[in-house]
Amino acid sequence: MELRHFRGLPPRYDTRWGTEFWSFVREATAPGVSILDLGGGRQPTLAPGERPPGARYVGLDISASELLAAPPGSYDETFAAPIEDAVPGLTGSFDLIVSWQVLEHVDDMDRTAAVLHDYLRPGGRFVACLSGRNAVYAVANRLLPAGLSGRIVAHLRRRPLETVFRTRYHRCTYGGLQSAFGAWDHLRIVPLWHAADYFDRVPMLQQGYIRYENWAFAHNRRELATNYVIAADKRL
Ligand SMILES: C[S@@+](CC[C@H](N)C(=O)[O-])C[C@H]1O[C@@H](n2cnc3c(N)ncnc32)[C@H](O)[C@@H]1O
Repeated sequence: MELRHFRGLPPRYDTRWGTEFWSFVREATAPGVSILDLGGGRQPTLAPGERPPGARYVGLDISASELLAAPPGSYDETFAAPIEDAVPGLTGSFDLIVSWQVLEHVDDMDRTAAVLHDYLRPGGRFVACLSGRNAVYAVANRLLPAGLSGRIVAHLRRRPLETVFRTRYHRCTYGGLQSAFGAWDHLRIVPLWHAADYFDRVPMLQQGYIRYENWAFAHNRRELATNYVIAADKRL
C-alpha cells in the first residue's frame, strides 16, 4: 500500500512533486543551451549531472552568500543581484530560465517578468514553481510577524532557519500571474493544491486541512491553489 493511503492523502498526491515543472523544462532543453537559474542560491535547480551536454549554467540570486554556499561546480557564472534590477549585459543571453520556489520572494512581479523577458533569447522559455498567495500557510505567513512566521515554517518544514526567506507573494495568484506574464507569447499556468505536508507535525489539524484543500481542488478554486507552475515563452 502506498504511503499516502496511510496518511489519508488524496490521489492527486500520487503525482510526483515537480512533474509539471520538469516536463516544461525538458521540452526546452537541448545540447548547448544557455540556462539561467533565478534564485538557485545554495541549491541549483538543475544539478550539474542533470544538465544537457554543453549547457552553460548561470546563477542569479539576491544573496551572494547563498550562491557561495552552493557545492563547487554548481554554476559557470554567478550574479548577486535582485531580479528586479536588470543586469547590463544579460539581455538576450538565455534559452531557458528556471526558478524553483523563488517568485513568492520577489518584491515586484511585473518588473521581474519584464527583466526575465529581456534576458531570454527569442523563442526562449521561463519555467517556475512558486507558492500561492492564498494558500493557508501563505496567509498565516503574511499575517504573522516575519520573525515568528519564519520560525514556525522552519519547525513545520524541518528546515534550518537560515533557509527560510522573507516572502512577498506579489501577484502570486492565478490572476496575478496572468496579468504579470500576460504579454508573453505562450503562457501556461498550472495550479496545484498540495500543501498537507505543512501539517505533518499536527495530524489532527492535517485532516481538517485536507478536507478544505479537497474542496478547493474539486471546485477548481485556482485563486486558492497552494502552488503554481508556470511556463512562459518569448516570441521567436
Ligand atoms: C526558498 S529559496 C529557494 C532556493 C532554491 N531555488 C531551492 O529550491 O532550494 C529562495 C531563493 O531566492 C533568492 N531570492 C529571494 N528574493 C530574490 C530576488 N528578488 N531576486 C533574486 N533572488 C532572490 C534567495 O536568496 C534564495 O536563494
